[in-house]
Amino acid sequence: MSAVSTPVGPPIAQPLAVRPPVIALAALVVGALAGAARGTPPITVEGMFPAGRSTVTVGPAPAGTGSADAAACATCHAEIAAEWRSSMHAASWTDEVFQAAYAVEPMAFCRNCHAPSHTGAVPRGVAADDGVSCAVCHVRDEHVLASRRSPAAPHPVMAVRAMSGSGFCAGCHQFNFPGDTGRGGAHFETGEPMQDTYAEWLDSAAAADGVACQGCHMPMVDGPRGRHRSHRFPGGRDLSLLRSAVEVTATARAVGDRTVVTFTLTPRTLGHSFPTGDLFRRVEVTAAWDSDPASTVRVGLAREFANVPARAPHGGITFVRRQSADTRLAAAGLGAPRVLTLTLPGHPPSGRVRWSLDHLLMPTPLAASQGVGEPRNRLVVADGTIDPTPGDTTP
Ligand code: HEC
Ligand code: HEC
Ligand code: HEC
Ligand code: HEC
Ligand code: HEC
Repeated sequence: MSAVSTPVGPPIAQPLAVRPPVIALAALVVGALAGAARGTPPITVEGMFPAGRSTVTVGPAPAGTGSADAAACATCHAEIAAEWRSSMHAASWTDEVFQAAYAVEPMAFCRNCHAPSHTGAVPRGVAADDGVSCAVCHVRDEHVLASRRSPAAPHPVMAVRAMSGSGFCAGCHQFNFPGDTGRGGAHFETGEPMQDTYAEWLDSAAAADGVACQGCHMPMVDGPRGRHRSHRFPGGRDLSLLRSAVEVTATARAVGDRTVVTFTLTPRTLGHSFPTGDLFRRVEVTAAWDSDPASTVRVGLAREFANVPARAPHGGITFVRRQSADTRLAAAGLGAPRVLTLTLPGHPPSGRVRWSLDHLLMPTPLAASQGVGEPRNRLVVADGTIDPTPGDTTP
């Protein structure tokens, strides 16, 4: 074996990295939750979600619920159950986009988050069909966990105030790449974030204003049984949420023998980077001559990664995945609006410029290789056409 061993592994499972901020962050989460859960010693949100290290153990159903399956909760909480059923939480295992990626690297690490209550090697039945189920978030120690307790509940309820904070979501939405020891599927946790949403939120104006994940992703909605927090969890497939993320303006100007299109992106109600979440998420800004789609030029906003050699815990040298660039739009509070320019050749007298800002689940070539069609992969968030203004025509 050479000094640098490259375990032939899946693209995501690139081993080892140590980055102190993640350790500091973990300490912060523990501290915040321990404080919030004071008075209810057995349950801390910090211990609820093992971030892919193991499955989630829900335990027996609370008295009065019959079963911890979503179908049992649905008999009384029909509206919330319907919202949840339409969410990516319910589809976290069955989702075709996840399944296509999982087929490339079928690791226990993935199953532990995308089918958190499965037992055995292959998620089946309710564990597969319900994914991140009611019980995964709400049931432990034969109690229903809720941020507050109402006397009307026919089942035992334990108040876990931290459920209304971002730290609760961090248990699954903030985690590191698994390291590949090169020893028969044994993995270890690197210090490099695979998803960094909670850390991004900590730095945002939303966090400074006390707006948690729930404030934007679980808005209060009215229903026949009164107001409640929506369980639809809109995200990267929800056009109205995406449109609320950013304000875009575009202008075009003839400069010499080219046309320069200038975009200004201003973050709006954004609690983290745009895009956030899965490491392959991407935003593209495009411009083209309206009469000629083939003239399209584009710039992408995304995280980029490099594979860097590093020392594995058992002593060998192996490769780790490290973020090498982050060109995404930062959340409000972190700086000025972003200005981007794209250049089209020429400036036909009657040529209008068509522009768009698109959200992509992943880069187009990766989507193609995983059988995810472009209509599914790409959503147009904002678009328009503009007449270039005559500008400085001296070359
Ligand atoms: C027999 C009917 C019934 C079943 C089954 C049931 N619930 Fe409830 N639950 C209620 C009622 C009634 C309340 C009182 C508040 C309300 O009306 O929403 C409540 C309240 C809650 C609350 C808020 C805490 C509180 O004290 O108000 C949560 C969270 C909750 N239930 C979760 C669940 C989950 C998860 C399940 C399935 C494991 C479940 N429930 C099964 C009837 C039920
Ligand atoms: C037990 C783990 C777990 C917890 C806890 C959790 N999530 Fe998720 N969440 C997931 C998984 C897994 C997915 C991805 C499903 C998929 O797309 O395959 C997801 C998806 C989402 C999405 C949809 C993203 C998209 O692109 O459509 C949103 C929004 C979201 N979660 C918000 C939250 C918020 C807010 C909280 C806290 C109240 C939370 N989640 C708590 C695991 C979790
Ligand atoms: C991803 C985690 C997650 C899942 C899955 C989930 N919930 Fe919740 N739920 C929450 C959080 C967080 C709150 C508390 C929001 C707050 O109080 O700030 C909540 C609140 C509630 C409430 C209290 C009423 C309200 O609207 O404030 C009920 C009832 C409830 N959930 C029932 C359910 C049922 C039934 C399911 C499954 C059909 C379910 N939840 C699935 C996270 C989840
Ligand atoms: C101030 C409002 C706000 C807050 C707070 C907020 N979000 Fe979001 N979230 C958005 C908007 C707007 C989008 C759509 C734009 C985007 O993808 O970044 C979004 C998108 C997402 C997505 C989908 C990402 C994608 O591109 O597919 C996930 C997952 C998510 N948020 C999780 C969280 C979690 C977890 C927290 C708390 C740590 C949180 N959000 C806090 C507004 C918010
Ligand atoms: C600690 C929890 C966790 C682990 C471990 C995890 N994921 Fe996820 N995954 C999430 C969350 C949360 C989201 C939602 C983020 C978003 O939608 O942008 C997600 C989203 C995804 C998506 C996007 C799905 C879609 O519908 O667009 C894919 C693909 C994915 N994960 C694949 C994997 C694979 C493959 C593994 C194992 C190598 C894995 N995940 C491990 C939590 C996890």
